[in-house]
Amino acid sequence: MKGSAHMRMTVIGTGYLGATHAACMAELGHEVIGVDVDEAKIASLRDGEVPFFEPGLPEVLECNLDNGRLSFSTSYGDAAAFAHVHFLAVGTPQKRGSFAADLSYVRQVITSLVPLLEGEHIIFGKSTVPVGTAAELQELADSLSHPGTSVEIAWNPEFLREGYAVKDTITPDRIVVGIREGSTADEVAREVYATAIEGGTPFLVTDLATSELVKVSANAFLATKISFINAVAEICEATGADVVQLADAIGHDDRIGRKFLGAGLGFGGGCLPKDIRAFMARAGELGTDQALTFLREVDSINMRRRDRMVQLAREVCGGSLLGKRVTVLGAAFKPNSDDVRDSPALSVAGSLSLQGAAVSVYDPQAMDNARKVFPTLGYVDSVQEALEDADVVVLATEWQEFRDLDPVASAALVAQPVILDGRNVLDVQAWKDAGWTIHALGRNV
Ligand code: UDX
Repeated sequence: MKGSAHMRMTVIGTGYLGATHAACMAELGHEVIGVDVDEAKIASLRDGEVPFFEPGLPEVLECNLDNGRLSFSTSYGDAAAFAHVHFLAVGTPQKRGSFAADLSYVRQVITSLVPLLEGEHIIFGKSTVPVGTAAELQELADSLSHPGTSVEIAWNPEFLREGYAVKDTITPDRIVVGIREGSTADEVAREVYATAIEGGTPFLVTDLATSELVKVSANAFLATKISFINAVAEICEATGADVVQLADAIGHDDRIGRKFLGAGLGFGGGCLPKDIRAFMARAGELGTDQALTFLREVDSINMRRRDRMVQLAREVCGGSLLGKRVTVLGAAFKPNSDDVRDSPALSVAGSLSLQGAAVSVYDPQAMDNARKVFPTLGYVDSVQEALEDADVVVLATEWQEFRDLDPVASAALVAQPVILDGRNVLDVQAWKDAGWTIHALGRNV
């Protein structure tokens, strides 16, 4: 795959976003250096090893290391000397003790890189940041750049989903570039993304603030959509209605759409939870907190689903989890990922354990990460082992392996055939026919 114009660029920060972006830009034909201060991460990427699970990425990484278009470095000096186009892809985690985003990594990149630059440079921010950050970074860059050197800050938010990161980077739904008045950074972005643009990807040029807001608004909307259906699920539970049929029915209205109406344990991960909180925090700073107070409710609805699942488990165990053997299928925040950040599955597993259950967790990819966060849970090596002698099974992450479980064979392994479908993916009738008692969130099954 080749773009029409091949360019040189750096990608600073080689976490999830940066490593994917660097490898995919090389795949498009560009020459790329990925830069990170984490020596272990860089060493692993140099060896062609992706330090997280992302389908398709190891192949793209290896191929572009081999053809020489992609390399990695821990030196900002290398980055400054190599290219005039830089992508900033470091993390913006939630600040400890606050809802706001921690911008220290983003600022650190500007402070480290800009004094080393000579000539004309553009830094495209990709990280998710509070509105106003790009303008602030421009001021910081102006204060640090050498006389005669110009450093333009533009914003090019990333919309990639874990599990589909390569596809979402190479053929995105849309490309958004925020620029300040008079800037021509959008023309450079058009060259970077020439392949996607030729393929028909919409290319939108906005001011800096709009581009920053596009990203958080998109994530806030997705979170709201999930919490909407989960709020309706609570009503379904109180009335005996079925949230899955309801979602199918309203989803046929193409103004609504069926996507992201999957009721269940709700959203987690490294983006949605922290992004809606940072959005609220920023609204507060801007004196417009009322505009986003509904996101507090979105957050609460989401967290209540985890409590509801623990309550359901307690109910099916006769009112107490003490000494009960509970199997939790899934630890990652969603399938096709090994990410356990704010994972609903792990949160439920942790609560069950704290209430006295003997919890066995199995996940096809996220075991190592889960062990680091919750070392006290029981971890087993296979789904069969997880099911053995279980009093109750909780399906918490909808991996294909769990969707494909044979209810008859599974029934022979457990102590009690009771399963709680936290993602509404099981064939209820088939599980009932195999002798299981099945409960699902938002459904009276
Ligand atoms: C999200 C955005 O989709 C992406 O555009 C942005 O760049 C980063 O944040 P990601 O965190 O990878 O991506 O996960 P996503 O696929 O959006 O799922 C988020 C969470 O919502 C998962 O925990 C998932 O299980 C949950 N979810 C999703 C539901 O509970 N129901 C649904 O119907 C869909």
